[in-house]
Amino acid sequence: MAYAAFRSIGAYAPSKILSNDELSSMVDTSDEWITKRTGIKERRIAAADEFTSDMGAKAAQKAIERSGIDKSEIDMVVCATISPDYFCMPSTATIISTKLGLENVTAFDISAACTGFVYVLSIAKAFIESGMKKNVLIIGAEKLSAITDYTDRGTCILFGDGAGAAIISATDNKDEAIIDVHTGADGQFADLLMSPNGGSGSAHDTLNQEATSCFMQMKGNETFKVAVKTLTKDVVDILKDNNIAGSDIKYFVPHQANLRIIKAVGDALKLEDEQVVITVEKYGNTSGASIPMAINDIYENGMLKAGELMLLDAFGGGLTWGSALVPFSPLEKK
Ligand code: UT7
Repeated sequence: MAYAAFRSIGAYAPSKILSNDELSSMVDTSDEWITKRTGIKERRIAAADEFTSDMGAKAAQKAIERSGIDKSEIDMVVCATISPDYFCMPSTATIISTKLGLENVTAFDISAACTGFVYVLSIAKAFIESGMKKNVLIIGAEKLSAITDYTDRGTCILFGDGAGAAIISATDNKDEAIIDVHTGADGQFADLLMSPNGGSGSAHDTLNQEATSCFMQMKGNETFKVAVKTLTKDVVDILKDNNIAGSDIKYFVPHQANLRIIKAVGDALKLEDEQVVITVEKYGNTSGASIPMAINDIYENGMLKAGELMLLDAFGGGLTWGSALVPFSPLEKK
């Protein structure tokens, strides 16, 4: 049987920074409130002519360069995004494939909001273990600024743009394989976090731009409570299922939604501060891109070494959730 190994990571963040002070001149908020309630100090915003696929392609290019495989060996591209270049078609994954010069690939997008990266990881693992694919490029890419209402202080302070990508490859060596991925969903809580307009579920006049806008709406406080509960349960379950203790984890890489959520989950799991990866202060919430951007941060800081075990944990609109136990398994010598 083939196993799936997490070979490499790459990420991209646009250069334009939107600070809390700048946001305070746009809506009724303050640096003090945002910092205290979310831990966010700034977020990145893509240029008007910079699309989700551009950011995804830049992150993917880095992941490919670091993977030790040639791009011609990639046989599938899966992109997690809720802010695709085009809402219906073509998929962002196909556009990214072409921007990277990839040929003979299967390419498609998936929609699982902030859990998107864990979902694409589970897809890559399944395709590789079944023997259908050998080298899968997975991407989380978001231009959330395009679907954020900058008059709504309840949401616009949270979100930012960026992308992260990884190469998942077949291996015979079980020791370097992704151990497990859990994913779940419950549409009963769909109204907590949604873009209610613009799809076939909204009775809209297609000529009315306002009615078709895809701006995100969120019941923040209710979402917060469900997030803490779900993220904690998710991790307890995956550790128990695999007989792994919290102390065996080198890095806990949670979805970066809110520092208070991350700390609450870390405390509930009795993790040490050094185990918990936090990037929310500089990127805000980048939905499906947040986990790979955070992994890239520890990689580029020289903290992530071959063989070290990561625990990923995500939660988002849908509702969706997921967790994964992933050893970092680059091709270069351990
Ligand atoms: O990524 C997917 C999952 N997303 C999440 O998990 C996000 C979860 N939610 C959150 O992160 C938090 O709920 C928020 C940061 C969105 C809000 O924080 P909160 O502590 O839950 O605040 P709240 O919604 O309970 O509002 C408390 C007060 C309200 O005023 P009153 O009614 O007490 O007078 C709000 O109107 O804070 C007010 N408020 C603000 N004040 C200044 C809400 N947003 C702001 C703001 N600046 N930006």
